[in-house]
Amino acid sequence: MTTPSRPTILVTGGAGFIGSHTAHQLRARGYPVVVFDRLSNASCPAGLVEPFVRADLSDANALDAAITDHQVQAVIHFAASIEVGESVRDPLSYYQNNVAGSLALLAAMQRHGLCHLVFSSTAAVYGNTSVPLIPENAPLAPTSPYGQSKATVERILADQTAAAGLNATALRYFNAAGAAPEWALGERHQPETHLIPLVIQAARGQRDHIAVFGQDYPTPDGTCIRDYIHVKDLAEAHILALEALLEGRHDGYRALNLGTGQGASVRQVIDAVRSEALHRGDRDFPVKDEARRPGDPARLVADASAALVELGWRPRYSDLASIVSDAYRFFAEAPDKAPNKA
Ligand code: UFG
Repeated sequence: MTTPSRPTILVTGGAGFIGSHTAHQLRARGYPVVVFDRLSNASCPAGLVEPFVRADLSDANALDAAITDHQVQAVIHFAASIEVGESVRDPLSYYQNNVAGSLALLAAMQRHGLCHLVFSSTAAVYGNTSVPLIPENAPLAPTSPYGQSKATVERILADQTAAAGLNATALRYFNAAGAAPEWALGERHQPETHLIPLVIQAARGQRDHIAVFGQDYPTPDGTCIRDYIHVKDLAEAHILALEALLEGRHDGYRALNLGTGQGASVRQVIDAVRSEALHRGDRDFPVKDEARRPGDPARLVADASAALVELGWRPRYSDLASIVSDAYRFFAEAPDKAPNKA
């Protein structure tokens, strides 16, 4: 008996951090993949899946050609600007890239009769909240143009599914982290603002110290708590969400949190990196207490039960030690590779 061929998936932003891991996992499962990415850092990251179309979502001809030439049947949409601080300084570019870019993609999907979409959203749609575990029906109150741009696209998806037969799942990630060093894929931003890469850089002697932003939060050790989720688990969730759409188990619009339901504090992350560094023979590093970073909520942890029920998704790689170990190995083995843009 022959296996039916798998549908071709367009992965926008497939050169970025989460997009590249997802493109690799899709290909490993036998899905033909087309990566569509503008490579805003102007260099080809390691581990790029081909075929690859270098273009912006505003380029309707490039989208049409990618969809037609490769007989695309479904889309996973990551392409976006993703820095909270940058979005506050330059909101127009965030609404342009994230909202207008998504509108252009949806228009192209409609032109070509494509009706399955998995959308990369974020816990930043919730803003500051004090609930211990954040459910999907918590109020959306983003505190940055980045979060607002993602919430706006979610709203557009809900409207478009009601109007035009689109089936769409938005996945709201908490703190994406980790790496797949076996594929030379990992997290690398320019400039780097994320905690885990920064602590690893301190341990590898590339920074003088790591700063702890705020020690007086209402948490057990006084530092902020986040729900770190391994990028391999995120990639797996995208494929499960895609398959639920392709197999007709999901229709209409839904949003699902992707997190572990477990929080780790800034100090716990630093301790985990220190223990990995010492295990590898790297150095201990100075830790300096600094003022709170404006806009940081004390605690952001997912209620991730809906993704388990609806997708059968269970994080497998997201204990803190595994996240740190994979990220560390990526930095140790691929120190000079170009940054991912997302
Ligand atoms: N932190 C430090 N020192 C540093 C860097 C970060 O103490 O040098 C702290 C931050 O104050 C925060 C925690 O480490 O409490 C995590 O910070 P990150 O910048 O790694 O991540 P954020 O939680 O701020 O942001 C993440 C994603 C965003 C997304 C947001 C959703 O990176 O893209 O979650 O809540 F929008």
